[in-house]
Order: sequence, then C-alpha cells, then structure tokens
Amino acid sequence: MKILIVGSGGREHALGWKLAQSPLAPEIISTPGNPGLAALGRTFALKVEQAAEIAALAAREQVDLVVIGPESAAAAGLADHLKTLGVPCFGPSKAAAELEASKAFMKEFCVRHGVPTAEYKVFDDAIHAKAYLGGREPPFVIKADGLAAGKGVVIAETRAAADEAINEILFLRKFGAAGQRIVIEDFLPGEEASFFALCDGETAIPLIAAQDHKRAYDGDKGPNTGGMGAYSPAPIFTDTVRDQTMEQIILPTLRGMKAEGRPFVGVLFAGLMISADGPKLIEFNVRFGDPECQTLMRRMKSDLAPILLAAAKGELAQAPAIEWDARPAVTVVYAAQGYPDEPLTGSVIRGVERADAVENVVVFHAGTRTDDTGLLRAAGGRVLNVTAIGDTLQAAVNSAYAGVQVIDWPGGFCRRDIAWRALAT
Ligand code: AMP
Ligand code: GLY
Repeated sequence: MKILIVGSGGREHALGWKLAQSPLAPEIISTPGNPGLAALGRTFALKVEQAAEIAALAAREQVDLVVIGPESAAAAGLADHLKTLGVPCFGPSKAAAELEASKAFMKEFCVRHGVPTAEYKVFDDAIHAKAYLGGREPPFVIKADGLAAGKGVVIAETRAAADEAINEILFLRKFGAAGQRIVIEDFLPGEEASFFALCDGETAIPLIAAQDHKRAYDGDKGPNTGGMGAYSPAPIFTDTVRDQTMEQIILPTLRGMKAEGRPFVGVLFAGLMISADGPKLIEFNVRFGDPECQTLMRRMKSDLAPILLAAAKGELAQAPAIEWDARPAVTVVYAAQGYPDEPLTGSVIRGVERADAVENVVVFHAGTRTDDTGLLRAAGGRVLNVTAIGDTLQAAVNSAYAGVQVIDWPGGFCRRDIAWRALAT
C-alpha cells in the first residue's frame, strides 16, 4: 500500500506517524512534507495548491490513497483532479470544501438545514455593515468570508473597535481577498470544543473531541493564532453533547451536502460552542484541526489506514468501530518568536531527539527545515508540536513540558498553561 500525504504541518506529520504504524506497512510519501515526514519516506516539492500537479504525481506513483491535510489543497480542487484520474482520496471536493472556504456559504447552509449556529448577516459594504451593528449587542463578531488561516475573525467589545475591524477587512484588505465580504454574527457564550467526524458522503462516524488554545499567550490572552496547544478528551464534551452534535449538526450537514450535490468526503471538523442549551456551531472546517489532530493520533488505537481508505471509497458503513486509548493526550505548540504577527524564521533548534526520547513524548515537526549542514531550523510560525500521553491529564502535561524543557531553541516560545481549564475543574 502506498499513501501520499499532502501538507507540511504538525497535523500531517502526526497523520504520517500514525499511518506508518499500520500493519499494512504502507509506504508513506508526502508533498511538500517537512523533516518529520521526510524521516518516514520520500517528499516532493509540490505546494499544496498545485492540485493538477499533485494529482499527476499520485497517478505516476500509483498511490492507493491520497490524504489531504490542509483546506487550501481541498479548496484548490485536488480531490476533483484525483477523481478524474481514479485515485482514492481522503478529503473533500472543491464544492464540499465551501463549508470552510466561505463562511457566508456555511451560514446560509446552516439556515437551509436547521443546523444551530449564531444569528448573522453577510455584507460587502461598510455602511450597511456598520448600520447593522446599531441593532445588535456587543461583543460583535466580525469575520472575513474567505480562508484566512484561522486569523480572519475579530471579536470587538465596542462599536468603535467593530467599525475599525470592518474598515480593516473591507477597505484595507487586512485578510486579502478573503475579506471581499464579511459575516457579522452574534456572540455565543460558552466553552469551545473541536469535534471530528469521518465522512464518506453518506455515512458519518464520530471520532473524539479535543480543546485547543487559540490565543497566543498564557491565560488565553493575546492575538488569535492557528492554535497554541490542545488536549483530548475535552471534559465538557460529554457523551450527551456528542450525541446532540451528531444528531443536530453532523448528520443534517452530511444529508444536506449530499442533497445539494456536494457530498462530503473527509473529516468534518465542527468548531463548537457548548452552552447550557447544547452545542452550537461556530464554524466548520473540512480537515483535521491542527494541533487537535496530534492529540487524536496519539489516542487512536485502531489502524488508521483502512479507515481513511474506507472513507475515500464510500465504505464507512462497513468499517469496524474505532478504538481509542482512554488516557488523555496533550500537544504543546512550540512557536517561533514573533508568531502570529511576524514569526522570526531561520533560528537553530537543537535537542528534538532528546525530547522524543522522554517517556510518553512524541515530537511532531510543523514549520521546520533541515539546512545544508544538517541543522534543524525554524521555517514557519508554529514550528514543533511536543505531544504526550499520560495516565492523567496532569501527567500528560508534565511529560509534554519535560519534552519542551530539553529542546534547546532560544528562537522559540510556547504557552506554559496548556490544558489549564481542564486541570482546574
Ligand atoms: P472561527 O475562525 O470562526 O473559528 O473563529 C475563531 C475564534 O473566534 C473561535 O474559535 C472563537 O473563539 C471565536 N468566535 C468565532 N465566532 C464566535 C461567536 N459567534 N461567538 C463567540 N466566539 C466566537
Ligand atoms: N486549531 C484549530 C484549527 O485547526 O483550525
């Protein structure tokens, strides 16, 4: 069996790490990959948006399965190209990826199919947007419509801050073309959780939930990021909430997408706000969360390869139940100084092997590269993911930070309080 992983982050390294353990002994290749993935197999230089070229690579390499990591590859139509070549693909078509690629599409879809989400309105001009705020209560939630790497959302406490956000997105194009339209929606109170379901277009099977920390600094302060750490299980995501999420959010979405001619294949990631009256949808993503995926991969006991293949082939209904390690897992994101605004790249990182050798710790590569002399260097914002599993969440957290401790990287920083909310309860 040969599997091509598309992407270059910690999520993709974690998927590759898990797939490589399959008893089917698959050959793992990736594009563009990273030093972690390069240790698992050959890597190629194609960028994730080069859909036609990646599809041609998959055909040439005669791979049995392509696993799409990031939304940008799905939005570029990779699954569609692969379909015409007859290569099984775990990941959504361009039309199905609209659930993440356009927040306006996602919100309108939710209304059509009765999926619980915050009230909203879509605008492409600032005057009407600002007028709408007059009738709403703060805090105001203002989102760029398109893909903005998890950063296109502003939560404004005051009208002035909201007006400024509208100007920045619509006029100054702070998030580029993603900000041609904005969505303004009501603020949802509660605690967030990330939940994942595998879909084959017809059938959805629940995975498990995780919680991540979106803010850059300790105490959940500072700017929004792609995620600074995660832990699983998510204590607030009880079995009751899981069943509500499947019934009210995941299954209506799967049925609705099929009915609208955009069957969803891949992993549906529901970003949820859990409140007293059940889960509400904040957003859909059409891929695994990063860094949530890393905790899921540490906890999955089943063989991932046949499961992803079954999803790609529309055969999930026959797939065996997925087994999970009951022990909690945690990921600490080690980021480059300056992240998320202006990460400083190029700094030398030492001691990753030492961290990997710490009991219960696995380090996944995200934004790293190996230079000509063999030194590991920072090459992105989120650079390493130090993951650990433990008998208790506290034990997992302690192990992860023991791993962080032995990495020698003056150019990096991490939050020191990952999982604090769950540890406090
Ligand atoms: P999104 O990219 O849509 O997930 O938004 C990024 C973050 O903004 C979310 O993880 C939430 O923390 C916050 N957020 C987005 N929408 C809302 C909302 N309607 N109410 C409260 N918080 C929100
Ligand atoms: N960690 C959140 C995301 O992947 O979007």
